[in-house]
Amino acid sequence: MPRITPRSPIKASNHFSRLIKSVLDKRHETASHKTYLKTMAEKDKFQEWPVKRNLQEYNDCFSIALQKLRLGRDIPDYLKRRYLRTKEPVTVLDLGGGAGYFLADLKKLFNSQQIPSKLESLSLYDNLSPESQRLIDKKHIISASEQKLTKKYDLIVDVFSAINFEFDSVKKNLILKYSYSLKKGGTLLLAGIYKSPESKNNISAHLRKQGFIAEFIDQIDNPFVNDKKTVLVITRK
Ligand SMILES: C[S@@+](CC[C@H](N)C(=O)[O-])C[C@H]1O[C@@H](n2cnc3c(N)ncnc32)[C@H](O)[C@@H]1O
Repeated sequence: MPRITPRSPIKASNHFSRLIKSVLDKRHETASHKTYLKTMAEKDKFQEWPVKRNLQEYNDCFSIALQKLRLGRDIPDYLKRRYLRTKEPVTVLDLGGGAGYFLADLKKLFNSQQIPSKLESLSLYDNLSPESQRLIDKKHIISASEQKLTKKYDLIVDVFSAINFEFDSVKKNLILKYSYSLKKGGTLLLAGIYKSPESKNNISAHLRKQGFIAEFIDQIDNPFVNDKKTVLVITRK
């Protein structure tokens, strides 16, 4: 049976950041990648996104998948179940937090239920709303490929953000980088990976070989997820 190598999040993030760099180098994409991230951060300043999603809209993306995999009714239910088991503060990282509405809603909900939580947002540019600034525990303003992770999370989530917008050549290593930063039993939820069926199989087979549970789930009924945009659910055993 392939076994997952125990790695600290720092070692894992350094390892995969190095791999990403070498893939970009080999493909002569280093310079275009740098320019791309700079342009994305510049565009972010103007918040030209079609929507700013809140907790309800993140749930719309993932509830069906969470239910299918028997992980929970929705995102708060999944996290609450983990809290009741571990009794540890719930830790969440949003890969592309935008205005921060999802994390702010989650914080308000957990505060009202007296569930301790540490909620963190990653973004290329600081666009958190004033309320999100107050409620979110930590913001990381850096690209996903460069972020150095220092802790593990119960949930890492990406809704049409960091991984989705990345170069195809770095997606797999980026997914692995964050998968290794999950706590045991923690989950990475990804919406909007524009990938061919072959490369989807490739990604899930690779993750399984590394000891993760990985499922692409089609959600044709979901307003945010059409047949091209399945969600990927990765759980650390
Ligand atoms: C379109 S907004 C989406 C915000 C939120 N997820 C939502 O659905 O409302 C994209 C977010 O992803 C972040 N982002 C995009 N590419 C990124 C990257 N490579 N590294 C880190 N953050 C990134 C942007 O800075 C921004 O916060």
